[in-house]
Amino acid sequence: MIDKYLKILKRGDVVAFPTETVYGLGASALNPDAIKKVFQIKGRPADNPLIVHVSDLDMVYNFADDISPDTKELMDAFWPGPLTFVLPKKATVLDIITAGLDTVAIRMPDHKLALRLIRHAGPLVAPSANISGKPSPTRLDHVKNDLGVDFPVVDGGPCEIGLESTVIDMSAEPYTILRPGHITAKDLESILGKKVNITGSQEKEKPRSPGMKYSHYSPDATVRWMDQDEVPNNPYTMYLFPSSPPHIGSENANIKRYDNNFADFARDLYDRFRQADLQGFQELAIEKFENYDALLNRIQKAIG
Ligand code: TXA
Ligand code: MG
Repeated sequence: MIDKYLKILKRGDVVAFPTETVYGLGASALNPDAIKKVFQIKGRPADNPLIVHVSDLDMVYNFADDISPDTKELMDAFWPGPLTFVLPKKATVLDIITAGLDTVAIRMPDHKLALRLIRHAGPLVAPSANISGKPSPTRLDHVKNDLGVDFPVVDGGPCEIGLESTVIDMSAEPYTILRPGHITAKDLESILGKKVNITGSQEKEKPRSPGMKYSHYSPDATVRWMDQDEVPNNPYTMYLFPSSPPHIGSENANIKRYDNNFADFARDLYDRFRQADLQGFQELAIEKFENYDALLNRIQKAIG
């Protein structure tokens, strides 16, 4: 079943594939013409660099050979998994991947179809498989909606995590999280035994992760926080309750409760964003919560 997609990748074309975070838009990381197509298909600005996806440690050394003991320790602890390392790049890494930076981003996804593709087709660049300006796709039909029904997509069903990987810059100390994800600063600190910084929106210097300067997706519907006791009485509002508010008995098309299952909520969020627009909701109201930084971060970005 995967052979058809390997053929497409090997001839220098682009294939969407599932990972544990979101669907990626894959092309050979060794073929500049194939990578150009990725930028064209997504409508992605050329100064926003891509993540190289690998299936084993040996592949990493083709892109970065300065792997510190700290980096190695984190790779051992979290790979394959939703953690992307920004490392000093080797001179041979294609400029189109790194947007001319002297670092390269690398990750080993925790998904058997993704790993099988990479093992046979070689390392793949893979941004999220959405059109720039849309939320990352977490389901097959999201990719088809953005890229067309005939676009080649390896079907892996819904993505397990539903939010993009944590990006950590290991090129200088103190190490800095450039994009929060499922793996938290605390998780990283517990392995490293040192403090990890988190890039704040207050950062005034040039953004360390170029992607962060682009506006993030927000649905056409207005997104806002609400209190737990808000009564859902507007048919044009979609209400999302991460907790289990006593006054929310049953769910329906515009009311959803997650009963404190934040993994479920994360898996569902981008689909809700897309549904809000497809179904013409005017507003998306989300009950305030504290835990799960990455989820808070994506919602806060959508609120703007
Ligand atoms: O979970 C994920 O990471 C997904 C799946 C498909 O693996 N991929 C993904 O790729 O989210 P993308 O291209 O949508 O986001 C990559 C982020 C961007 O914010 C980009 O600016 C940043 O990583 N990035 C890439 N290379 C970088 C570098 N050398 N230095 C700093 N940031 C970099
Ligand atoms: Mg993206």
